[in-house]
Amino acid sequence: MPFTPTEAAAHVRSVGLDPDRMPRHIAVIMDGNGRWAVERGDPRFTGHVRGTQIVRDIVDECCHLGLGQLTLYCFSVENWKRPAAEVAMLMGLLKEYLLAERDRILRENIRFTVIGRREGISDDVQAEMDTNIRLSRDNTGLTLCLAINYGSRTEIVDAMRSVARQVQAGTLAADTIDEATVSNALYTAGMPDPDLLIRTAGEMRVSNYLLWQISYAELWVTQKCWPDFDAATLHEALKDFANRERRFGGLQPVKGAV
Ligand code: IPE
Ligand code: IPE
Ligand code: MG
Repeated sequence: MPFTPTEAAAHVRSVGLDPDRMPRHIAVIMDGNGRWAVERGDPRFTGHVRGTQIVRDIVDECCHLGLGQLTLYCFSVENWKRPAAEVAMLMGLLKEYLLAERDRILRENIRFTVIGRREGISDDVQAEMDTNIRLSRDNTGLTLCLAINYGSRTEIVDAMRSVARQVQAGTLAADTIDEATVSNALYTAGMPDPDLLIRTAGEMRVSNYLLWQISYAELWVTQKCWPDFDAATLHEALKDFANRERRFGGLQPVKGAV
């Protein structure tokens, strides 16, 4: 059964967090599956298998915390450069996940969605995605967004094409293009921007992820590889987030100032 908002707030407090200082949207770069496996002397795929289990655990925890949206970087447009066997394994795991999680998605009132380019993704994987999207369309709990065959620059190119088409068709005047026009042309149209971006496995880069959307996200990087990530680490990130002062280019409020 999904948590009620009151139960979620109680859970947030029980782990030492303040319900008023929670992000609405968390984006995650789930990195380090391969390194985790290799460090243990195992083949890389074992890291991806374990990583998929961690996704289940973290999705559960985000539901319990009453989070609005979780966006997970699952496969980038650049990941096609990997050996064909690894790509096939990742696509197989994805398909399995989409099918295996269907019941949980519906039971937990999760709204499932994806961002990324469809071209290149096999029809059977797309069919599983579409079924989850369709069945969960009216759910009102956590929005679980998987970035699959996603690249931020590709997304911006696609957005520019769609805006250019509207201008060409005469339905949009070039001078009226503003930030909202761009936001609405991205795959993430209608979603709030991430407040917190978590990256595992220590790399200090964003790897072509949500470049427009993370303009003012708080960044949190852990040395832990994704297969070692857990609810306690998520709480640590959330505690850190709660103590950040977000100024959005303005000034820090000064006590006693008029
Ligand atoms: C993240 O782990 C999963 C994907 C990118 C699909 P990696 O496979 O990138 O693991 P490392 O970074 O090589 O350790
Ligand atoms: C980012 O990880 C992509 C995903 C987590 C799906 P990568 O492992 O592909 O990123 P780089 O190559 O270290 O920048
Ligand atoms: Mg990596």
